Amino acid sequence: MGQPIRVMGICGTYDLESANGRILEIILEQCRDLGADVSIWDNGAYPLPLVGAPGSWDDENVKKFQAMATESDAFILSSPEYHGTMSGVMKNNLDWLYSKHTSGKIFGLISTLGGQSSNNTLNHMRIAARWIHGWVAPEQVAVPHIKEALGEEGGINDESIRDRISALSSSVVENSRKLRR
Ligand SMILES: Cc1cc2nc3c(=O)[nH]c(=O)nc-3n(C[C@H](O)[C@H](O)[C@H](O)COP(=O)(O)O)c2cc1C
Repeated sequence: MGQPIRVMGICGTYDLESANGRILEIILEQCRDLGADVSIWDNGAYPLPLVGAPGSWDDENVKKFQAMATESDAFILSSPEYHGTMSGVMKNNLDWLYSKHTSGKIFGLISTLGGQSSNNTLNHMRIAARWIHGWVAPEQVAVPHIKEALGEEGGINDESIRDRISALSSSVVENSRKLRR
């Protein structure tokens, strides 16, 4: 089987304890159980400047972020839906990735919503991932009514969401193994 698949999680908020951060941790744990090495980019500890802000092109956090992406075989993007699309934090993270970091690698997508389910954020992240030559897994998860969806212990209450998350983690790890050169 060779080296384990390396899966990098990217969170759409600064706080990994946020709801989308919690869902990201759940799916990364599953990827680990499937034999992958996992890492997570911590926007709180290592914030990325807005692309084009003064000094941004030489920013040390940007270099770390791009190096982590280069070393990864797959990505999980988890973003809250803000005004019908991904968060600004997620968009800015993606704007720092180019095809030289991501080409030919699998992307898995998750969004969390305060209200009812929608595919907007998933579709918008799919377009961005395609633009940097990522292969986006067809399995994807939108978690509506996020406050009710997460239990007190931090688990997921809804069985159908749990099933979709398992299908996504399996797809990311299995398809990364197929694609890795
Ligand atoms: C600026 C802003 C815009 C939001 N827009 C939407 C929206 O369009 N649709 C929706 O269902 N929830 C919306 N929400 C609720 C967030 O999606 C929800 O709070 C988030 O998924 C919770 O995850 P988090 O703790 O990781 O941020 C919005 C929240 C904020 C702060």
